[in-house]
This record gives sequence, C-alpha cells and structure tokens, in this order.
Amino acid sequence: MSESDAKSASDLLAWYAAMGVDEAIGDAPVDRFAASATTPAPLEPAATQPIAEARASAQTPPESLPKAKRLAAASPLTSEPAPALDGIETLADLEKAVAAFEGCPLKRTAKTTCFARGSAQAKVMLIGEAPGRDEDLQGKPFVGRAGKLLDKMLAAIGLDENSVYITNTIYWRPPGNRTPTPQEIASCAPFLARQIELLEPEVIVLLGGAAAKSMLETTEGIMRLRGKWKLYRAKERDIPTLATLHPAYLLRSPEAKRQAWRDLLMLKERLSAVQ
Ligand code: URA
Repeated sequence: MSESDAKSASDLLAWYAAMGVDEAIGDAPVDRFAASATTPAPLEPAATQPIAEARASAQTPPESLPKAKRLAAASPLTSEPAPALDGIETLADLEKAVAAFEGCPLKRTAKTTCFARGSAQAKVMLIGEAPGRDEDLQGKPFVGRAGKLLDKMLAAIGLDENSVYITNTIYWRPPGNRTPTPQEIASCAPFLARQIELLEPEVIVLLGGAAAKSMLETTEGIMRLRGKWKLYRAKERDIPTLATLHPAYLLRSPEAKRQAWRDLLMLKERLSAVQ
C-alpha cells in the first residue's frame, strides 16, 4: 500500500469514528470464533427466541436450588462453560469470577468487563441492559450520556453512587450496541442472580425493556411493565422490583420523562417506608 493510500484509509477511519461509526457490524451477529481456521464462518441468523422460552426449553433444574445455582445448572442454553458459583460469598469474589468467565462470547470483542458501580451496601440496585461504548472503555456501567442522565434522575430523588448499586444484565458490550440476545443474557444470568443474593437490596429497579423482560421472565413490553411493583424471587425472599424507562430512551424521547418521573416518585415513596 502506498503512503497516500494509507493516509486516505486512516483519514476515512478517523472520519467514521468522528461520525460515531466505531464498529463494523452486520444485521445479524456472527460467531467468528466458532468457525475453524479453514472453514468460512456460517452466516447465522440473530437469535430471536425470547429469554423465557429459551429458559423453558433448557433442562429444568430442581426448584429447591437457590436461583443463581438453578440458572447456572440450566446453562445448556449455550454450548459455553457454565458459571462456577461455588464458594463465591462476596461481591469482590463474584467480580473476579465474572472477569475469568469465558462462557459469554461478547467477552472476546469487548475491551473490558463492566461489573458494577456504586455501593456494596446500597438498598437500591439498578439493572440496565448492557454496557455501551463509554462503559466498555471505562469498565463501569452507565458512565456515558445515558449514565449522566441516570445520575441526574437519581439525584432528583436524593440518591447517588453511595446509595445505589448499578449493573447490567450482561457484563460485556455487544458490538455496535445491539440488544443482547437471550442466549447472551442467559449466559450471564447466574452471576446476576448471585450478585442480587450477595447485595441483598431492598428494591430493584429495572432500566428498560431488556432488563425488565429478562428479570421478570416475561415477554410483555416495557410500556406495560413500567410503573408497577412486582416481586423478584431471590434466594430466600421476594424483592420488590420496579421497571422503568431506560435513560437512553429518555434521551431520544424526552416527552417520556414524565412517565419516568412518576416511576421515580414511586421508588422514593417505597424507600421512605424502608428507611
Ligand atoms: N445502557 C445500559 O443499559 N447500560 C449501560 O451501562 C450503559 C448504557
């Protein structure tokens, strides 16, 4: 390649990056790591099976197991290794186990593992969808534009990083910020269930449709799910759980902030009862 070709290619890349094109992706995810060196990667369609269906079609481990272990035992959703949760008794140990986990293919394309931010003593746990570009660069959930809005929303009801604990349904950024597939969510679900067991929050807030559907095990849309208290069954107790609109959606549709504000007031009221 001549010097001027290299310069044009580099200028073009810089222009793409400035326009926000930071990934080269197709419409459907392709697992190129699964293809052998000699066989071209097959073009697989995106997984469309809803998470509840995907879980139902996997083997059903006994109800007597705690949720995190049940989800781990049900991992034949993917051919990847199941998470090892035995002996994990602290959030710090869990973070190490997540960082060492090779069962979610997104880890291979992500730059960092985004485990959580906030306080391990928090009464409020917030669960978003998936790390985006800024989160992938910094290794922490909700640190980009949507995160800034989330921080303002929380501040409006008197909460901050010392009083909340924030994570996502998955710990690695899906290329191009696409919605995670049910299989990707399922591969991280045992860790998330253990994260909830270890944090023992008083309330859980689900940010957006992907988190709400997977955590509440439903196919209902976020507009129907939001603004209602439901129960998430953790190890030994049911945790009041509220779904609300995702801050990234609020950035695109500011008129929906009114609904999100109503949800925040419901959260504030519930917290005043448990404090
Ligand atoms: N959106 C999410 O759902 N999670 C993040 O961490 C950032 C943006």
